Amino acid sequence: MEDKILRFAVAGVGGIGRSHISGIEQNKHALLTAVCDIDAELENEYTGSVKFYTDYNQMLKDEEIDVAVICVPDQIHKEYTVTALRAGIHVLCEKPMALQTDDCREMIQASRETGKKLMIGQVCRKAPGFMLAKQLVDAGEIGELFFVESEYAHDYAKIPGRGGWRIDPVNLRHPVIGGGCHAIDLLRWIAGNPSEVFAYANRKMLKSWPVDDCTVAIMKFPDGVIGKVMTSIGCKRTYTMRTVLYGSRGTIICDNTSPEITLQREYNNKDGQRIVTKQLPVDINNHNIASEIEEMCDAVIGNTDVPTDGIEGASTVAVGCAIVESAAAGEKVLVDYNF
Ligand SMILES: NC(=O)c1ccc[n+]([C@@H]2O[C@H](COP(=O)([O-])OP(=O)(O)OC[C@H]3O[C@@H](n4cnc5c(N)ncnc54)[C@H](O)[C@@H]3O)[C@@H](O)[C@H]2O)c1
Repeated sequence: MEDKILRFAVAGVGGIGRSHISGIEQNKHALLTAVCDIDAELENEYTGSVKFYTDYNQMLKDEEIDVAVICVPDQIHKEYTVTALRAGIHVLCEKPMALQTDDCREMIQASRETGKKLMIGQVCRKAPGFMLAKQLVDAGEIGELFFVESEYAHDYAKIPGRGGWRIDPVNLRHPVIGGGCHAIDLLRWIAGNPSEVFAYANRKMLKSWPVDDCTVAIMKFPDGVIGKVMTSIGCKRTYTMRTVLYGSRGTIICDNTSPEITLQREYNNKDGQRIVTKQLPVDINNHNIASEIEEMCDAVIGNTDVPTDGIEGASTVAVGCAIVESAAAGEKVLVDYNF
């Protein structure tokens, strides 16, 4: 393990692709070999031993690559992932795994058939505040969960994506699947797979966009826990993923943009029961990509399972698809986890 080096290629070097490159550069087991982006003007940013390609297939053909990192628009995740897996390359694919569950199935199938690892970058599981919240829940600190809620509130008005992929009127990128997936995945990670959802949506902020900009979904989690996910991409506020976890003995209020999480807990003392509030300090690291690169390296070098595999990514997409379907149909939808 000590001296093993994995050759990485990054496809799509926009905002998040650059974060992955930084994560690769920080990791002693990772070497950036090649990058690919359809924007040829980006070539002059890559010098020395890193080769730049505008053609993804050419890159896979020419270069010896161990891990491909897929950071292109959501609409192309499936194509690029399956191509790499079938070429014998492990894949770390950005969230959302894909925009349809059928695409997720194809990606899982390619990973199964080739034996190559497929990890989905559900990065909220690496945010220190959320990691601490989950540890506290798992340790029984707030007792039995009964209600969990999370919101993905992010003003996209000025970030349609390079080339406008977030506002593509043909290959729709629904914000619940593309962005709300963070909140869905977080609640799934903490409370398990919801079985059914009911949602309402509107488009009062980004009226020229081809998708609804605000959706609220309620859902049934295992063991009778109920939950709510709100997705807004037109809200007038700073980015937040405020999350509240209610248990029989206490409540956790957390975010990926706050330097502390709040734990309120009931204690018994001589005067009876009282609620004690503690502020627990955490780092703000809402895009802890370096940690994902580390997990990918560990899994490939140690030949172990990746932590957020295709089934995990697909399950989050499945909940998102059920929410979109419910909002359109005006009725509850059962989530299909058959992958
Ligand atoms: N984990 C997170 O929190 C997080 C945050 C932002 C974005 N994302 C995801 O990462 C992906 C990229 O998002 P972004 O914000 O970096 O977008 P972006 O628009 O900033 O960058 C995308 C890049 O891909 C390039 N590209 C487009 N089509 C391509 C193709 N066919 N082949 C090669 N390159 C191509 C574009 O030129 C651009 O440079 C999306 O899937 C998005 O949902 C994840």
